[in-house]
Amino acid sequence: MHDCKMIVTPLLQTRNNADFHLMVIKESRQTGWPPILVTAGVQAALYFLGMFILPHVANWTGMGVPFFWQMVAQGLLAGLLTYLLRFSMWWVVIQGVAPPLLVVFLILDPPVWVYPVLVGGLLLVFWNVAINRVPLYLTNRATADCLHRLLPKRAGLAVADLGSGFGGTLRVLSLKRRNQTFFGLETAPVPWGISILLNRLAGAGNYRILFQDIWKQDLSGFDVVYCFLSPVPMPALYEKAKKEMKPGSLFISNSFTVPDVPPDRTLTVEDSRKTTLMIWTL
Ligand SMILES: C[S@@+](CC[C@H](N)C(=O)[O-])C[C@H]1O[C@@H](n2cnc3c(N)ncnc32)[C@H](O)[C@@H]1O
Repeated sequence: MHDCKMIVTPLLQTRNNADFHLMVIKESRQTGWPPILVTAGVQAALYFLGMFILPHVANWTGMGVPFFWQMVAQGLLAGLLTYLLRFSMWWVVIQGVAPPLLVVFLILDPPVWVYPVLVGGLLLVFWNVAINRVPLYLTNRATADCLHRLLPKRAGLAVADLGSGFGGTLRVLSLKRRNQTFFGLETAPVPWGISILLNRLAGAGNYRILFQDIWKQDLSGFDVVYCFLSPVPMPALYEKAKKEMKPGSLFISNSFTVPDVPPDRTLTVEDSRKTTLMIWTL
């Protein structure tokens, strides 16, 4: 069993909130367009700019720039622009490495079907990155153990993981609490399918995975709602939970706070990233 520290000091709450507020502000300062369109637009604009400028460079210098170095330059500029547009660091890295990687792929010359299969596979796993701006990363075992300590012991308790990924978090809990019911809501096809399979293998009969958009789910039937999403959906999700869930229910968020609504309790997990669980009693 891992350690978790319950912290209710205003100082730490304020610091955590300030950190997370910064993340929210950073997101909201972006262009307002879906990030996938902005980043693709940056790459396309730089590519066409290159097509216009490079012939002149070749004329002046008397030598052309090899395609690989064109793509390295495009990657660097795209990364810089994405950084200046205040995107998260992982977008900056993707923008930087994508163009030279494309050249490596062209050199390797894989069969043509590999490209749509790769794109399709990534889409099926990371469906909600483009649509809901929520990536796929998983709650670790130490955090799941701390979450277990937070759950009321009452038989029949209904617990939901909004955006359940591979379903691992609630699987741990459902195997420990056979007299309670657990629900995972997920709309990315691959994690959804895999989590159903893993539940069957684990014999988690009290845990159902639903192919369900969290925004379309009525939350009134749940006593505890857990989420590990991103700063983007938190304000609207908290409002939804507050409107729909019964008084006294718990709304628990891993790492992402609700701006201007300090949590009632904060729990710090003794893992390497000092994961914070924020708990609101509705
Ligand atoms: C960061 S992962 C967390 C996975 C899991 N809860 C855990 O903690 O290990 C967020 C998950 O939410 C899913 N998701 C995002 N928006 C969603 C939505 N509107 N409806 C259902 N699932 C959603 C994503 O596909 C992703 O699997």
